[in-house]
Amino acid sequence: MKSPKIITVTSLSELRNARATLPEPIGLVPTMGFLHAGHLSLVRQARQDCASVVVSIFVNPVQFGPAEDLSKYPRDLQRDLQLLTSAGVDLVWTPTPREMYPDGYQTWISLDELVKPLEGAMRPGHFRGVATVVGKLFNCVQPQKAYFGQKDAQQAAVIRRMTNDLNFPVEIIICPIVRADDGLAMSSRNVYLNAEERQAATVLYRSLNAARAAFDKGERDANTLRRIMTDTINSEPLASLQYVSCANYDTLIELEAITGKSLLSMAVFLGKTRLIDNMVLG
Ligand code: PAJ
Repeated sequence: MKSPKIITVTSLSELRNARATLPEPIGLVPTMGFLHAGHLSLVRQARQDCASVVVSIFVNPVQFGPAEDLSKYPRDLQRDLQLLTSAGVDLVWTPTPREMYPDGYQTWISLDELVKPLEGAMRPGHFRGVATVVGKLFNCVQPQKAYFGQKDAQQAAVIRRMTNDLNFPVEIIICPIVRADDGLAMSSRNVYLNAEERQAATVLYRSLNAARAAFDKGERDANTLRRIMTDTINSEPLASLQYVSCANYDTLIELEAITGKSLLSMAVFLGKTRLIDNMVLG
C-alpha cells in the first residue's frame, strides 16, 4: 500500500499547483463521489498503470434532468477521502459548481448520433452534461490516461467518441463492471433500494445472463435476445422495464442479428429507483 499522503484541493488554481508537482504519467478517475467497489476498481487500475493518480469528486449539476435526483444524490466526502487514502491516490479534486459553471457559462460539448438512443433518449441533455464536464476535467487535470467503467456503457462510448473527435491527448481506459456477490452491478443509487427491491434487482443480471446463455447456444437473432431479457424482467413483479437493447457496441444502433461486438443493455425501475446494466457479446 502507498504512503497515505493525499492532497485534497478545491479551487482550480490549487489543482494546477498540485498537478505540477506530480510525476507523470497521470491517471484521472472522474467520479461523483459516494464511492463503492466499482469506483475503487478504476482507481486500482490507474494505480497500476500510472505514476500518479488523480480522482475528481464532483456531482455535476448539468448532467441531471429537472426531475432527477441531483439534490438527493448521496454524498459522504469524509468516507470517500478515507477510501481514496487507503487506495493510494495522490490528489483528490473536489471542484465547486460555481467554479465549473460561473455566471455566463455557455460552452457545451454535444454529440449528434451516439446520444440519441438508450440513456440519451430517456435522459435528454444528460450526455451533453457528461461530455462537457469530462472535457473540462481533461483540460484542468491534463491526464495522460483516464478511467471509466463499462457499467455506464453509453457514457463510455460517448467519451471514447468525444476524445477522438476533439483530439484530447488522453488514453481512455474502460474497466469491467464490478458486481455484488448476487450479480447486482455496484451503483451509488443502490442505496435507494429497500430490502425487497434490492433482492428483486438481481433480475437485471439474471436477464442478461439468460440472453448470454442463448447466445452461447448459437442464438444470433437480436429480437429473440431482446425478448428473452424482456420476459425475464417481466417475471419479477417489483421490476418495471423501461427499455432493453441489443445494439452495435460502438454505434449503439439496434441490430437485427449479432455479427460482431454487441451490447445488451437495459434500464429497469425498482420502485422509484432506476437501474441500468449491460453485457458485451461477441
Ligand atoms: P459516477 O456514477 O460516480 O461513476 C464514476 C465512474 O465509475 C464511471 O466511469 C462509472 O462507469 C464507474 N462505475 C460506476 N459503477 C461501476 C461498477 N459497478 N463497475 C465499474 N465501474 C463503475 O459516471 C459518473 O460518475 C459521471 O457521469 C462522470 C463520468 C464522473 C461525469 O460527471
